[in-house]
Amino acid sequence: MEKLNIGIILGSTRQGRLSPQVGEWVKQIADARGDANYEIVDIVDYRLPLLGEEDASEQAAAWNTKLAELDGFVFIVQEYNHSISASLKNALDYAREAWNNKSAGIVSYGSVGGARAAEHLRGILGELSVADVRVHPALSLFTDFENGATFKPADLHLVNLNGMLDQVLAWGGALKTLRAPAALV
Ligand SMILES: Cc1cc2nc3c(=O)[nH]c(=O)nc-3n(C[C@H](O)[C@H](O)[C@H](O)COP(=O)(O)O)c2cc1C
Repeated sequence: MEKLNIGIILGSTRQGRLSPQVGEWVKQIADARGDANYEIVDIVDYRLPLLGEEDASEQAAAWNTKLAELDGFVFIVQEYNHSISASLKNALDYAREAWNNKSAGIVSYGSVGGARAAEHLRGILGELSVADVRVHPALSLFTDFENGATFKPADLHLVNLNGMLDQVLAWGGALKTLRAPAALV
């Protein structure tokens, strides 16, 4: 069976953000598994204005094309005012079918592991028909980042990260059959 394509989506776009460090950690561990094609997907690269504020058909097309290539997602989620960042919500709003019937895992961070943001994201993913898996590495800004800036994850998160990836691949493979053209099912 062909390997699944899994996008590791960086949820924050602010200058000085921590999400690239977390995304690289996920990618490094995921790549070592060799069980899927993992890639970092950086919302910044798509230059998405706030939805509807201006004509952004080219950016929207590029974003949807990238999402359409993917079978599943790992969202790198940071907590902003007890929810997800505005940039991640905006990027979620920019697509519909390209999200549907795919799997997702969440890696979050914040003062309490980004748990409140992760739970908000789960509600949004339900509306987009994305199957978000249970296992969820939740990283602490206090203990997994040195001086709140340099990512040094505790070893215990490895178990959850691998468990989450196992579930994303299992559900991602199952859901791919729903998206296959009828003749191939
Ligand atoms: C506007 C704003 C609101 C925030 N609100 C929360 C919050 O409610 N809970 C929390 O744990 N951290 C909060 N934080 C801290 C962020 O989780 C932390 O700065 C994190 O590094 C942001 O992710 P980023 O570096 O990838 O942008 C907030 C940060 C910002 C900029």
